[in-house]
Amino acid sequence: MTDLSTAAPDRVTFTTPFAHRLRFTDDVFAADRGALVDVLEPSGGLAPRVQFWLDGHLAARPGAVAAVHDFLAGCGDRVRPAGVFVAAGGEAVKNDWGHVERVLRAIHDADLDRRSYVVVAGGGAVLDAVGFAAATAHRGIRLVRLPTTTLSQADSGVGVKNAVNRFGKKNWLGTFAVPWAVINDTALLGSLPDRDFVAGFSEAVKVALLKSPAGFDRLCRDAPRIRRREMAAALPAIRASAELHRAHITRGGDPFEALEARPLDYGHWSAHRLEAVTDFALRHGEAVSIGVAVDTVYSSLVHGLPAADAGRVLHALRELGLPLDHPAVHDTAALFAGLEEFRQHLGGRLTLTMLRGVGDPVEVHEVDLAAMAEAIRRVGQVARGAGCGVAGCGCAGGAA
Ligand SMILES: NC(=O)c1ccc[n+]([C@@H]2O[C@H](COP(=O)([O-])OP(=O)(O)OC[C@H]3O[C@@H](n4cnc5c(N)ncnc54)[C@H](O)[C@@H]3O)[C@@H](O)[C@H]2O)c1
Ligand SMILES: [Zn+2]
Repeated sequence: MTDLSTAAPDRVTFTTPFAHRLRFTDDVFAADRGALVDVLEPSGGLAPRVQFWLDGHLAARPGAVAAVHDFLAGCGDRVRPAGVFVAAGGEAVKNDWGHVERVLRAIHDADLDRRSYVVVAGGGAVLDAVGFAAATAHRGIRLVRLPTTTLSQADSGVGVKNAVNRFGKKNWLGTFAVPWAVINDTALLGSLPDRDFVAGFSEAVKVALLKSPAGFDRLCRDAPRIRRREMAAALPAIRASAELHRAHITRGGDPFEALEARPLDYGHWSAHRLEAVTDFALRHGEAVSIGVAVDTVYSSLVHGLPAADAGRVLHALRELGLPLDHPAVHDTAALFAGLEEFRQHLGGRLTLTMLRGVGDPVEVHEVDLAAMAEAIRRVGQVARGAGCGVAGCGCAGGAA
């Protein structure tokens, strides 16, 4: 591990402050316009230049593009518009370099500079691809993220990474870049299909398991309401997850992942692999649900997580309407190749996070593959209706 705590005459350590702005709002393009306008700072006495990029599936919703134009018109001379563009929605935008090139060209053609703003409204994939272009043009243009999926509001939108997929590998090409601001707008979630709405809560379960036993209890309690899209239950879960995520980044001591451990990637070694081998038929959040389920049962087999807690995790994921299983997870030879890919991405020793208890993560450097295969088998059984062991669950074998 690199030791940054000490300085020597030939080696000087330094720190530099970053700010991370995170706002929660409703209807940022109309009633709550100020939430966005207020973070766009004038430069050299001139109004800020602002270029918008919208997720293609968000833009398809009637009135979505017009709402951005209305927003800009309503800003009067407080901003200088530099175009409103639409990017392909979903993982496609990360798989084809042509999409990144288009964003770079639009930034170039509009003469944006380091004091200009790229505002991107979209799911995690569009945030990643447009964010990558913004981070590399002029070595960094200010990026304002408006995440439009539950996953990106709860998790990736708050983060400091961006990436596109290259050489058949997910997120192989990207940068660390702190967003200028992140604005989580409830209104933008309205047009999300049910499948994508529930998908994001696997990340909320993940972060609660790592950092917040009380948050995990709330998710267990509220899972059926979240699945029904009751916003009174869904929004606090999104907010708690986003805030825990931000606290990890801003106070966890390793925002740019220089250390071996990446605790927020609980359940992700298999999730990334599952996305790739299913050719992205599985959403990231769905793959994370399966990955979290598998690593949770593995944690109960190998690292002392109480079996009852593992059962509660599977139960909660299922109550949220998330998948626990997929045929691809049973091709263990192909899946286990994901462990090596995960290690290579980070360098150094393989380091995974597992659970000794809820809110009690542990770093491990070895995986007992036989136990992992057994965990996959058990999760598959529960997915097919075997009991998860939770009292009152009602599934076969439940203790009700
Ligand atoms: N940078 C990071 O730290 C980080 C962390 C986790 C995940 N990610 C990445 O995020 C991506 C997954 O993000 P996601 O789960 O948001 O999926 P996504 O971006 O693929 O969006 C899911 C689908 O919903 C559509 N969509 C988005 N907003 C919509 C809206 N409001 N109305 C209607 N449709 C809408 C999208 O076009 C897409 O088809 C993956 O590429 C993953 O690697 C990045
Ligand atoms: Zn994730």
